[in-house]
Amino acid sequence: MSSISIHALLVLILLQKCSLVNMGRCPNLEAKLKAAEKKIHDLTFNRQCNCQCSFDGIVGSVGPQGPIGPQGPPGPQGPPGRPGPPGPQGPVGEPGPQGHTGEMGPCGTQDHAKPVGPQGTCPEGFWELSDNTCYRFNLVLKNWSDALACCKSLDANLVAIETAEEQTMLVQKIISMGENNHDFWIGGNELDGAWKWSGGLQWAAKPLAPYTSWDSSLGQPQRNLEKCAFMNKARWHKWHDAPCVQDRFFICEAHSV
Ligand SMILES: *[C@@H]1O[C@H](CO)[C@@H](O)[C@H](O)[C@H]1NC(C)=O
Repeated sequence: MSSISIHALLVLILLQKCSLVNMGRCPNLEAKLKAAEKKIHDLTFNRQCNCQCSFDGIVGSVGPQGPIGPQGPPGPQGPPGRPGPPGPQGPVGEPGPQGHTGEMGPCGTQDHAKPVGPQGTCPEGFWELSDNTCYRFNLVLKNWSDALACCKSLDANLVAIETAEEQTMLVQKIISMGENNHDFWIGGNELDGAWKWSGGLQWAAKPLAPYTSWDSSLGQPQRNLEKCAFMNKARWHKWHDAPCVQDRFFICEAHSV
């Protein structure tokens, strides 16, 4: 007998013995028969087939869901979140470094006032030379408007000389200070057309009359561009007019406090 015939015979036996019942409900029967054929081929002929062929049964229905598996490893890191709200205000910091020296005040950085009498109840740097009136002789050169600004910064004004006694007293103080070789600006000016004393915090502007000490023998005051009055060192400190841009010493006047 040829080997193919033996195979055919064995397959036939197999089909008779154990597969006939499965015919018709065995999927892929032919492929399984071929696999069985190969198994049989591997058997020795003198062994009896004990019908160990194992066809698969019908596929059952889906079983119940299994238990939840163990937790997986952590996922990859996500993208950065949006910025959060501003935090609370921090504590007050250390004090900053010392600042630069400021600009000079209207009266300069030094105290250029020279003591000329009892201080009385006058502001600092002023002397009470007549009842309730204080004066400050500023020995620093300034033009008229800067001199006025200096006086005003001290709650004072350029001096208004309103009596012969006041004029005489001021001239005597200038001489006693040893400053009679200097001119002094006073508050008289005609910046808005008529001669008057400068108005300020303490006094409203007012005309020079009735008392004046103009140097009339020199034709003072002149009607020209010299619009500010000073006490003229060359003429016993009688009044003279001059361009307001010139620099001179000056006298401030304040009420006692
Ligand atoms: C007074 O002097 C100051 C400082 O030199 C200057 O800035 C100002 O323009 C002067 N004012 C007048 C009216 O000359």
